[in-house]
Amino acid sequence: MSKSMQGVQDEERIDLTKEESRTVRRRSLKLLFSLIRPVRARLFTGFGVIIFSQAVRVLGPAIIAFGIDKAIPLAIKHDWVPLFWTVGLYLLAATTTSALTSWFLVYAALTNQNVLLDIRERLFVHTQKLSLEFHEKYTSGRVIARQTSDLDSIKELLDSGGNEMITGILFMVFTAIALLVLDANAFVILLFSLIPLFFLTRWFQKRTKTEYRKTRVASARLIVHFVETMTGIRAVKAFRKEKQNDAVYKDLAEDYRFVNARVIQLFGIYDPGLIMIGNITVAVVLLLGGFRVLDGSLGIGVLTASILYARRFFDPMEGLAMFYNSYQSASSALEKISGVLEEVPTVPEVENPTTLDNPRGDLIFDDVEFHYSNGRTILPQFNLHIPAGQTIALVGTTGAGKSTLAKLVSRFYDPTEGRLTLDGVDLRELSEANLRRAIVMVTQEAYLFSGSVAENIALGKPGASIEEIEVAAKAVGAHEFILGLPDGYATDVNKRGGRVSAGQRQLISFARAFIADPAVLILDEATSSLDIPSERMVQHGLQTLLKGRTAIIIAHRLSTISIADRVLVLEHGQIIEDDAPAVLIAGTGKFARMHKAWRASLV
Ligand SMILES: Nc1ncnc2c1ncn2[C@@H]1O[C@H](COP(=O)(O)OP(=O)(O)O)[C@@H](O)[C@H]1O
Ligand SMILES: [Mg+2]
Repeated sequence: MSKSMQGVQDEERIDLTKEESRTVRRRSLKLLFSLIRPVRARLFTGFGVIIFSQAVRVLGPAIIAFGIDKAIPLAIKHDWVPLFWTVGLYLLAATTTSALTSWFLVYAALTNQNVLLDIRERLFVHTQKLSLEFHEKYTSGRVIARQTSDLDSIKELLDSGGNEMITGILFMVFTAIALLVLDANAFVILLFSLIPLFFLTRWFQKRTKTEYRKTRVASARLIVHFVETMTGIRAVKAFRKEKQNDAVYKDLAEDYRFVNARVIQLFGIYDPGLIMIGNITVAVVLLLGGFRVLDGSLGIGVLTASILYARRFFDPMEGLAMFYNSYQSASSALEKISGVLEEVPTVPEVENPTTLDNPRGDLIFDDVEFHYSNGRTILPQFNLHIPAGQTIALVGTTGAGKSTLAKLVSRFYDPTEGRLTLDGVDLRELSEANLRRAIVMVTQEAYLFSGSVAENIALGKPGASIEEIEVAAKAVGAHEFILGLPDGYATDVNKRGGRVSAGQRQLISFARAFIADPAVLILDEATSSLDIPSERMVQHGLQTLLKGRTAIIIAHRLSTISIADRVLVLEHGQIIEDDAPAVLIAGTGKFARMHKAWRASLV
């Protein structure tokens, strides 16, 4: 198994070794820094503003203390100026805090949106660029989870958690400083309160860390099961698998509920614990301060301010604890996303690719050996020459390696050993654009994108005119049925009335291949959804389609064979028969037997 694919397997495990989790942390930090770098100027500005606004916010009780101890006694003596200043300053501090906070919230939100946009785009572009090997391993449920729930948890952290944490910590630090300046005794009491606070919070963090990991694993399992059931809904219905799925789902949902309940229980201990520490601290400040006020060593205003500070000091703690929660899921999301972003395409494009101006379609397998990333050898020591313009029929039992061979020719995979050349150029040396133009594969899953029929055909040749599109559709015998659709070529294939059958989808994908006009065309069971009359019609079209190009046709129904120049029988990744169809049929080999059985099945 390649090292990068190993990462794919790992990222949902909970029992990582020290070394592994260090690697994971390093790659997610790297991603984090790369995300922050473009917005660092904005971060500094925002940080400056938030420091200032929190400092101003903390001034409030100190101004009140001054008002009570100094300004009010003077006002009683008819000196109103200090009181006027006190009230003015207090209002100014309050409005400044509000204004700055409101500015900061918008500013931070805009910055966060930039970061999110960045990561969202990177993830999409990268996931799409990854080779088929990655997508065959990494289930679509997991790809979806990366783009949805993982991005959501990062969004949640950025939207609320991050701001709350920075604001909260600054507020607590400034409050403690203000208390130290105002009344050192109260400050010492506050310091003592930090001891139980520290232990309570550490306990809480340790416990939530494990519990949150469990909730994420449980929710991922739930999502995967859901996606699998819904994407395979036809098979589920066909095999009446609903009951069994229900049972599995119920178990998974119950697990999810259970671990969530555990998390809530932890909060049920932490929150009241916080409140209790806060209340006791306030009570001690009040009690000791009260004595000192009575013996005249402490102003009543300072006591009021100390109580306000001590009370407010604990306010952000709940938010910080919540932050820890969103931080946990966001950092694990970041770990998983960074895992996908570090995957490298297994079929990369070379530095200086070669471009064939007029590919002829001469294919050579030169000592090719192939196995999938962690599997047994599928093609051992494979040699084959397909001269330009030849039509090959590739037959063999299921699992013989026909599709694998086709995927190698279209370079969805690279050979493990040896090389595959087109007109003498190694496919790995060929430019991506050139390769996609020269070699086109049509498979049985003829996928249509949302859009019109014409647009779907034009995918084969971007910018094709409507005339060209119609010529292509006529050539493969798709024109008639397309005209029968509600809006003809303009019919949207995903809208009501535009739904086309599996066979019609295949005809559209033939037209798409026809218009692309490739030097090499591969049809992998591409006619399997057609009925016999439609197939006969396509066969007629096929002769036009195949003229002047190299073709590899993989087909169940041997009727297709009649248009082939040469038949290859593949077994266990090896060619056991290779000759003109008529010669093989007349012989006594495997193909002759297959053909006889097929003929018998027709009558
Ligand atoms: N993505 C894959 N990863 C691992 N093994 C695969 C993959 N695709 C196919 N195989 C294996 O390769 C062998 C040949 O498969 P395939 O080329 O699809 O056969 P055919 O098209 O002749 O029916 C099979 O044993 C199959 O299990
Ligand atoms: Mg196959």
